Amino acid sequence: MTLIPAGTIGAKFLGWGTALPPKVVSNDDLTKTLDTSDEWIRERTGIERRHIGGSTASLSIEAGRKAIEMAGVDPLSIDALVLSTTTPDRTVPATSATVQHGLGMRCGAFDVNAACSGFVYALVIAHGLIAMGMKRILIIGTDTLSRITDWSDRNTAILFADGSGAAILDAVSGPGQLLGWDFDADGSLEDLLYADIGKTLHMDGKEVFRRAVRVMVDSAEKSLKASGLTANEIDLIVPHQANIRIIEAACKRLDIPMSKTAVVLHETGNTSSASIPLALFDAVDNHRVKNGDNVLLVGFGAGMTAASAVIKWHNS
Ligand code: UT7
Repeated sequence: MTLIPAGTIGAKFLGWGTALPPKVVSNDDLTKTLDTSDEWIRERTGIERRHIGGSTASLSIEAGRKAIEMAGVDPLSIDALVLSTTTPDRTVPATSATVQHGLGMRCGAFDVNAACSGFVYALVIAHGLIAMGMKRILIIGTDTLSRITDWSDRNTAILFADGSGAAILDAVSGPGQLLGWDFDADGSLEDLLYADIGKTLHMDGKEVFRRAVRVMVDSAEKSLKASGLTANEIDLIVPHQANIRIIEAACKRLDIPMSKTAVVLHETGNTSSASIPLALFDAVDNHRVKNGDNVLLVGFGAGMTAASAVIKWHNS
């Protein structure tokens, strides 16, 4: 299935913000309680440190407030809040309700759970709402995976961490920034990575790794096809920040050089829903994205989900 945005009403990024908890946990810190080493973690994952702490609501409110301030908009002018998270603070209600109230908004608010692909899901859902008449949407990707990580399991404890990234999307007439997109999920693989309610994460790391490369490449190719672009027309790829070796393998298969890849995982670890916005806005804030650049976002995660989107970035 190739999906092309309708093109009548599109959207653009008006403001964005990120949040990381102040507490930094280094690989060396983990060696105090786990049979592992800084060298092993760096070589096998690319991760050097990660940020731990906060709640999904508190990090979302911090990132959301920065996005609203940068956009210079009244919180009451926002028509919907879409929060991507795998780690809601409560079973009921959705964490987006807490975030909406905390940001002084009054609008429809709901959570999306598509694991590490969730921010791209939220981005595309927001474009759909805008195509149906909404004018302004706040999307947030936040996870506090540290709360569902077994800190005695070296298989997962070295990877997962906490963070948030948010953006205000505003309606524009014409096609807007989204050129093409793709969603995927394969529920038959759910046992590869799961956490039962109230329990910690279980992961078959090797199999997730193997499948991750395949589904990222597959999804990215579908988005490229939908956007009418080839991989060599992509100026920046923003992959899910899970493991540098997964990113390298996927980029190699897509024939996109690592010099065009946004990477923050050495600093953040795997923050699930937050990983793509953290990497995207780090690249934008560091002037790696110019007006008119084609940016490919691609994620994969538990479920086993995948999602990708091609955006033509405009600052104005
Ligand atoms: O958002 C999606 C989330 N999940 C992922 O993206 C996970 C994808 N998978 C991975 O990132 C990797 O599979 C891991 C980082 C989890 C593991 O790396 P690997 O290269 O697949 O290692 P491995 O499981 O093949 O283990 C290699 C060796 C084994 O020792 P032996 O049998 O060769 O003696 C493990 O026991 O490394 C050992 N090992 C460790 N050693 C030090 C496994 N974990 C660790 C560790 N520290 N943390």
